[in-house]
Amino acid sequence: MTIFSMGSEGDGKNSPRRDTPLSGPLGGKKICVVGAGFVGTVAAAGFAKFGHEVICVEKDPARVAELSRGKVPFFERDLEELLKSSLAGGRLTFTSNLEKAVDGSKAVFLTVGTPSANGGRADISALKDIISVLSKCLSPGQIVVIKSTVPVGTAGSLKIILEQNGSGTRGVEIINNPEFLREGNAVFDFFNPHRIVIGGDSHDAIETVAHIYRMGMTRHVPIITTNNETAEMIKYASNVYLATKVGFVNELARLCDGVGVNAVEVARVMGMDPRIGQEFLNPGPGWGGSCLPKDLMEFLGLADSLGISLVIPRAVHDANQKQFDHVAQKVKDLLGTLEKKRIGVLGLTFKADTSDLRDSPSIPILKILMEKGAEIMAFDPAAGDDLAAVLPGINRVNTPYESADGSDCILILTEWSEFQLLDWKRMGDNMRTRNIVDTRNILAPELVKKYGFDYSSMGQI
Ligand SMILES: NC(=O)c1ccc[n+]([C@@H]2O[C@H](COP(=O)([O-])OP(=O)(O)OC[C@H]3O[C@@H](n4cnc5c(N)ncnc54)[C@H](O)[C@@H]3O)[C@@H](O)[C@H]2O)c1
Repeated sequence: MTIFSMGSEGDGKNSPRRDTPLSGPLGGKKICVVGAGFVGTVAAAGFAKFGHEVICVEKDPARVAELSRGKVPFFERDLEELLKSSLAGGRLTFTSNLEKAVDGSKAVFLTVGTPSANGGRADISALKDIISVLSKCLSPGQIVVIKSTVPVGTAGSLKIILEQNGSGTRGVEIINNPEFLREGNAVFDFFNPHRIVIGGDSHDAIETVAHIYRMGMTRHVPIITTNNETAEMIKYASNVYLATKVGFVNELARLCDGVGVNAVEVARVMGMDPRIGQEFLNPGPGWGGSCLPKDLMEFLGLADSLGISLVIPRAVHDANQKQFDHVAQKVKDLLGTLEKKRIGVLGLTFKADTSDLRDSPSIPILKILMEKGAEIMAFDPAAGDDLAAVLPGINRVNTPYESADGSDCILILTEWSEFQLLDWKRMGDNMRTRNIVDTRNILAPELVKKYGFDYSSMGQI
């Protein structure tokens, strides 16, 4: 493994992003990004902002049309501005035609989904389908860059498909370049990564991918070059560790609740130790989202397939399921029973500043509450239209105040900052009984208690 620090080309000092097309190892060739989801749209618009000519392939024609008009079909802060700016710069186009898009592209970044399937193992069939098409149209010198999160060994198996199916694809290199962006901060993270990981076995291909980033970085960023399998494992190990950290602080909060100690204060001081760090030390309703759950399942599935027993990740998974029950129990503790109780829910997405509902903790928690007879009146400022499919039976309302109407308890599940600014007197006046379960610890307990609320938090005394 090699680590080197990277700023702009040349003297290694900062340089502005480009307004003129680039030359260099890409030889005037373009970049192709396949998949216009959270990762692909950010990467395509971001690479174009770097100064590269980019063509983004998306199988959904409606999405292609929207993106071509500068509309982002999901909520991601600053992405629409970036998209519009890159389109206006004339270096970003969208298409559904994969074969045409890869023609003349130096690097083809794959950013399609790798969801859980087969008992938790990652489903890489979308990648395999794309590679089958690419095997017919790529030629030596072109590079396939896997940006999707993929099981260890995926690059190797895709290379076999490429070589078996294709004529003249032996000189095509496959590189892993895992993505570490956080939804809600994806644009910032794309331009300000903590590290860029590039895995592969061709020095030239690795250097070309490094060059693609180097042209846009305005500060020094460590570039880690390694082999494919290590790059693949780095991504899973990172996400499983993050889930472990959240799982630990959630259990800490339960213990602190039991002994009357403020877990938030404990966690803040713990995080001052650089060996521990502040991030991911906030007690909450359980971890979720589009990555941690599926990546932890793949990690465990890999271990199982090798007959290796991993105690910690298994416990982290099980503890998270218990955390959902724990949140439901907190509501029940305040209300005595859930039968025929109306719960006003604030926030459904797995975190603030995203419309993404994938594996949000709100889903299992609200299912438990509904199974036990509660009626849900939910407000979320951005949750996608897939809400009815993932949470059938809940009532979606248009304002937080409507969620309070006749409710017995407010349950805060997502840390949208606007919830802190609500008129909590008005909320209370709308309710049948004044109870709050704040799973994100975003409210000031003194304030809501002043308005007569019974307030329950996650370890925040
Ligand atoms: N979302 C995140 O925060 C995040 C962060 C880091 C890594 N990742 C990883 O990146 C990958 C993509 O995640 P995402 O959240 O962007 O997924 P997504 O579901 O939002 O986007 C995938 C896109 O690819 C398109 N697509 C699927 N098959 C296609 C094909 N054959 N041709 C063209 N387009 C196709 C889909 O229509 C969709 O628009 C996953 O492996 C994920 O684990 C995601």
